[in-house]
Amino acid sequence: MPEKLYKIHQTDARKIDTIITTPLVDVTVTSPPYFDMKDYGHADQIGFGQSYTEYLDDLYDVFSKVFACTKDTGTLWVIIDVFRRDGETIPLPFDFANKIKGIGWRLKEVIIWGKDKTVPWAHKGQMRNSFEYVLLFSKSENYTFHIDRVRDYGALKKWWVKYPERYNPRGKTPEAIWNFDIPVQGSWGKGYIKHFCPLPEEMIAQILKLTTIEGDVVLDPFSGSGAVLSKADNMKRRYIGTELNPEYIRMFKNYLKKTGKQKRHEYEVETNGLLPQNQFETLILKLRALKYARIFYEKLKKDAKLDEIVLIFVELTDRTPKKSHLLIVVRYLILIRDEQKLDEVKAAMKAIVAKAPLSKFGIEPDFAYASNFDTFSAGIKATTLRLYTNKVTHTFKSELKIADIANLGRNDIIISEIAVDLNEKDYE
Ligand SMILES: C[S@@+](CC[C@H](N)C(=O)[O-])C[C@H]1O[C@@H](n2cnc3c(N)ncnc32)[C@H](O)[C@@H]1O
Repeated sequence: MPEKLYKIHQTDARKIDTIITTPLVDVTVTSPPYFDMKDYGHADQIGFGQSYTEYLDDLYDVFSKVFACTKDTGTLWVIIDVFRRDGETIPLPFDFANKIKGIGWRLKEVIIWGKDKTVPWAHKGQMRNSFEYVLLFSKSENYTFHIDRVRDYGALKKWWVKYPERYNPRGKTPEAIWNFDIPVQGSWGKGYIKHFCPLPEEMIAQILKLTTIEGDVVLDPFSGSGAVLSKADNMKRRYIGTELNPEYIRMFKNYLKKTGKQKRHEYEVETNGLLPQNQFETLILKLRALKYARIFYEKLKKDAKLDEIVLIFVELTDRTPKKSHLLIVVRYLILIRDEQKLDEVKAAMKAIVAKAPLSKFGIEPDFAYASNFDTFSAGIKATTLRLYTNKVTHTFKSELKIADIANLGRNDIIISEIAVDLNEKDYE
């Protein structure tokens, strides 16, 4: 029987071509051994006791083999730093990038990883060392990069339900500066991390989300503590690693045995809580449209001292707002108590919506007014309506028909075709 492929192999990374013989890797995430600084305790180790040229040549060798076993759509992420030698700073990330360009790896992105919990002191004439480089290389121009998946959106949190206006419905594109704290010794489980430089789990998860889907293949030729590969396992990706030191491999297996089930569960909970982005965007806009009505109702009554609104019908439109910074046009049909006050109401509303918070909602309101139930009802085409109160607009109170609107309670002020029924408790 052939030896199992998806595991950490106790093998020299320079022999990776004997393990992986076809291009099946989707992403490689790795931090290479340091140059001549750390003794990883093995005669075949790269870095320790070598000259800089020998070191770069060995890395070239490893990453040409990684290139050969990577799919055309694949990427390579290398976490690497400058270092000091004889009072000088050696630009290893850039020497490395230039070197492996010769293999065919295309440097796509230089990301700064801000790692706060690093050594608090600095050497004379130097800054405190608080970041490393994350280099992204691709094998071809057609590489996998699911940027939408790492936009800052998706897991709906309680306060997004209540404050939809504070959240960009399209999500934010992550910047090229990443802040992830270095895992503190012990955070990986008691006695597990005696290793030198474990990578933060969240950073690895971000890279895997960007570049892979479940079932894809993740490689780390310098596995070390196995941080990359255990995260891959948690996220239902397959993994292959090489590492010389059998003690690290043993620790990795132990760690996976102890934490794998729980971490897999956490991954599943998180993934199931995610909404596809377009659904998320629509939901946030619906929440905003309803809350907007609730806020202008309150402001008109309390700030402008005009207790004139009886009912508001809220309707999303597919019209494009006139101003480019706005997101949607929402029609608000407002039933007012006293027709004589209409001009006063209109003037107050104009002032209210021009100011924060409503000016921040991204909504272009299209106001229409009615002064009796008949004209109000005539302006509503929808048949299935939901009722919201002056207190809650993220959960509808009940369904209702247009005929019911004359018999509503005093706090029942918003009706709409929009159906949102979010239970805050689900989003703690
Ligand atoms: C910087 S560490 C990797 C740390 C890892 N990213 C983590 O999160 O723990 C580099 C690792 O490369 C291993 N190593 C050094 N030379 C190697 C070689 N020729 N083949 C495979 N692994 C090697 C070392 O034992 C060390 O564990």
